This record gives sequence, structure tokens and C-alpha cells, in this order.
Amino acid sequence: MGNFEKLNNRKFLDLGMQPLANSYLKKKYLKKREKKYRLEIGFNSRKKIVSILKTIPSKKMFNKYYPYKSSISKTMKKSFKIFATKIKKKYKPKCTIEIGSNDGAFLKYFNKNNIIGIEPCKNLANITNKKGFKTYPFFWNRNLAKLITKNYGKVDLIYSANTISHIKNLDEVFSSINLALSTNGILILEDPSLLECLKNNAYDQFYCEHIYVFSLLSIVNILKKHELEVFNIEKIKTHGGSNRYYIKKKSNKKYIINQNVKKNLNIERNFGLNNFSTYKRFASRVKKSKLKLIKILEICRNKNLKVIGYGATAKSVTVLNYCKINKNLISYFLDTTTDKQNKYIPGVHIPIKKYSGPMSSNIDVAYLGAWNFKNEIFVKESNFIKRGGKFITHIPQPKIV
Ligand code: TMP
Repeated sequence: MGNFEKLNNRKFLDLGMQPLANSYLKKKYLKKREKKYRLEIGFNSRKKIVSILKTIPSKKMFNKYYPYKSSISKTMKKSFKIFATKIKKKYKPKCTIEIGSNDGAFLKYFNKNNIIGIEPCKNLANITNKKGFKTYPFFWNRNLAKLITKNYGKVDLIYSANTISHIKNLDEVFSSINLALSTNGILILEDPSLLECLKNNAYDQFYCEHIYVFSLLSIVNILKKHELEVFNIEKIKTHGGSNRYYIKKKSNKKYIINQNVKKNLNIERNFGLNNFSTYKRFASRVKKSKLKLIKILEICRNKNLKVIGYGATAKSVTVLNYCKINKNLISYFLDTTTDKQNKYIPGVHIPIKKYSGPMSSNIDVAYLGAWNFKNEIFVKESNFIKRGGKFITHIPQPKIV
């Protein structure tokens, strides 16, 4: 998988020239030329993998300036808490590795002696290291897996949420996991679901960091070479609809393969996730989605409504740049992340302001950049909704809600 262009990836979607998603700009850089790359998405019909075609070197994206923190939303905090409690009870792991531990939203529910974090973004690794959780500030690879097994022995649980889809070389990922995992150990992965992405027309799941959007079909194919297999799958609500894959070594007979696996493979095949034509149809829905979103925003502008953006997500960078939406259509974005505030959205240069409480009465409409946190946001903004404030979302189709 090192070089997936070789794997006959057929392009089905072109999302235009895009800046790096998480590179929010300071004012002084607005006049400088921004680096952009072409965001194209392709399908590998042999392995059924959907990926972006041109990738950016990881060090350019995951470094000490990485702004995204998992603990920023109640939804994610709750999801990690519930799941950490569940797996500790169910599997009683003596030693766990978390690949992509971010700011410790999952890690913190474990005993400090029982979990090891892996986080290449040094600003984030510092947070958990300072709290006493051993965190390696490196990218996950075979060398690191060897180092950890040398220091701690093989581990019985490896967990990784919203991380593996960010790593280009999947063979390296899974061979390193194989190295570090004990014979009866298990691997649990969580990542956005391709099926949900297509159903929701969520083309903004694609940006430079999201190299892959996985299906169960693709995960099964990727694992084959590594003598690993999925023994259960759960559908979860986070990040706009994700899959949680339970994976074991083929030689591990402690767990039997749940019927869910076959059932979900059939659901994905019936939806057409193994056919190129399904992706072409998705691409034509995306083009329509773009036109409709622009039209709605233009109507709002023509009515002199005050439109802002809610949540300056990495996803919204894809939408805004693809649809060429700038501050003529959305005055500014509100965001709770300190590292994004007082900066500008890459590419389209819409200002980002600090979110300091429920929206004020001078705002008429808010475009939901953070649509994946819709429920949480609607609760927070119940007064805005009560007084007639509206939201615009492009999921599953652009509309005012
Ligand atoms: P994500 O979709 O890439 O996870 O990013 C979520 C962004 O949305 C993050 O910058 C924080 C922001 N956000 C808000 O500004 N307000 C909110 O209520 C929530 C839930 C998120």
C-alpha cells in the first residue's frame, strides 16, 4: 500500500484545489501564496479501497502545531468514556496501546501503568506526558512497535480511533500492530464509515488528512495479508457515522467471528460499495450538493440575512474551497478551539472568532460546519432556534433547518 497509485485507483471525484485542512492562517499570512493541492478521490477495485489520490507528507500535517483536540466536544468525550469503561470491564487488558492518543480523551480512563500513548503531534503528546501517561511522540511504525515490545512486552489491547485512516502505508501499520500484539490480544479500530459517507453525501470526509475512508469490505481485504481478521463490527454515531472494528490474529481462537461481520459485508455489497458505478453516482450527487448549497447561501445574502459558520472543522475547509464560498456568503465562523480562533479558514480566508456562549440575536442563520456534532450544538443553541434562528446543513442534502 506504500504507493497506492500503482494499485489501479480509478478517479471518481475531483474536489478541486485545496489548501491543507488544519492550517488555519494568521492574519499576517493572508497575503502570502498558499500551497494547494488537487483533492481527487479514487477507488481501488481490487481491494475495494477508497482513498485520496495525492497525499501530503505526514510531517507537514501532524506536527507540534496540530490544532484539533478530541476533548473539545462533549460527544467525543462521552463516547470515549463509555467505551473505555466497557472494554476495561470486558477484556481486562493488562497493557494497552492507543495509536493517536491526541489530548488523552480516551487514555485518561486507564491506569497510568496500563496504557501507552502514541501521538506524533508533540503539542498533544506533551499534554498526556505531563499528566503522567507514557506517550511516545512518534509516528506508529515497526521501529516503534519493536521499541515498545522491548520495553513492555507484547500488549493485549491496541485501540485507535480516527487515526489509521490518516496513515498512508497501511502495510506498515498492520505489520507493526501484528508485532506488538500478543497471541490472544485484540485490536479495536474506529473510523468514519464509507457507507455512511456515501449515504449522507458527506464528501467533506475527504481532505488531506483523511487518506482513506474505510468500509468493512476494504478493512477485510487489507488485513488478509497480515493474518488478521475482523471478528465483530459495531456501527457508532461519532464523526457522522463510524465503524468500530474488532480485530484479532487468525491464530487466536479465543473469539469467534460474530454474525454481524457477514451481515455488514452483505449490506455494503448490496449498497454497491464494491462497484465503481456507485462512486460515480456519488460524485454526481456531490456536484448537485455544491450548486444547491451555493444557491441557499446566495438567497440568504439577497435577503440581507446575517449568515455565520458554526464550527471551523477540517471538513468545512473541503466544502468551502470546493464550493468557493468566501466571506461574501459567510461573514465569519465561530469555534471553541483556541488554536483556531482569530485565524482564517485556509483557502477562502473567512475569519474565525471565539465562541463565547450561545449565539447572539444579530445572527439569522448559521452554516453547520460541525454537522457531526449537530445534536450537541442544537441543545446548546436552543434559544437561537426558539427565537427563529436557522441552521444550514449540506448533510445529507443542502437545506435550511
Ligand atoms: P471536527 O469535526 O474536525 O471534529 O472538528 C470539530 C470542530 O468544531 C472543532 O474545531 C470544535 C468545533 N466545535 C464548536 O466550535 N462548537 C461546538 O459546539 C462543537 C461540538 C464543536
